[in-house]
Amino acid sequence: MTFEIFNSLPVLETERLILRPITFDDADDIFEYARDSTLKRYTTWQTHETLKDSVAFIRGVVRNYRQYQPAPWGVIHKDDNKLIGTFGFCHLAPKYQRAMVGYVLAPKYWGQGLATEALKEIIDFGFNQLDLNRIEAICSDVNDPSSRVLEKAGMKMEGILDEYFPMNGEMRDGKSYRILRREWMLTRK
Ligand SMILES: CC(C)(COP(=O)(O)OP(=O)(O)OC[C@H]1O[C@@H](n2cnc3c(N)ncnc32)[C@H](O)[C@@H]1OP(=O)(O)O)[C@@H](O)C(=O)NCCC(=O)NCCS
Repeated sequence: MTFEIFNSLPVLETERLILRPITFDDADDIFEYARDSTLKRYTTWQTHETLKDSVAFIRGVVRNYRQYQPAPWGVIHKDDNKLIGTFGFCHLAPKYQRAMVGYVLAPKYWGQGLATEALKEIIDFGFNQLDLNRIEAICSDVNDPSSRVLEKAGMKMEGILDEYFPMNGEMRDGKSYRILRREWMLTRK
């Protein structure tokens, strides 16, 4: 299945951020945070060891854009024009009107509400532009910052998925979150 919209992801704007398609020029900015070992505690992907890893990541993203497959936006901080993270949809199931969100933000920028700002924007996009009815997210049981972000964006925890993520050599439980279109609409009133 292909999705036209990912071939030309529109640019989105929030108070402090621009969300736009990722390009090979973003490699240095991505490497700057993706090499940070702080991320290991929360992510299933390996931190990047060299710039080549970041280029390989971008290659995958760009390939998905070209092939009309789900791929993330790059998040640019308006203050310094740097790419400071990626946010996007995965596991899109139009027939069931649902999709999952995934994201990462550079540790240097944590704790300023930026992830919540970006997440709310893409949730809005999911309901308004992708015609979704349900948006989901799963974070590991140790990822309190992400749980908090999901809650601040209006998502509710539905349950625990036992031994869901292999992380740092052990299986971690997943916390499953969702927001429904009707719940999102209520927050917009
Ligand atoms: C999750 C992540 C995107 C959050 O980014 P952020 O910009 O710092 O998020 P925000 O500032 O919007 O909100 C973070 C919230 O978590 C809280 N928080 C931070 N560390 C915490 C901790 N150890 N325990 C509990 N809450 C914590 C903050 O206080 C804040 O809540 P508040 O506004 O009520 O005070 C960022 O930590 C990240 O990139 N993590 C690694 C990748 C990842 O986990 N991705 C998600 C996979 S599901």
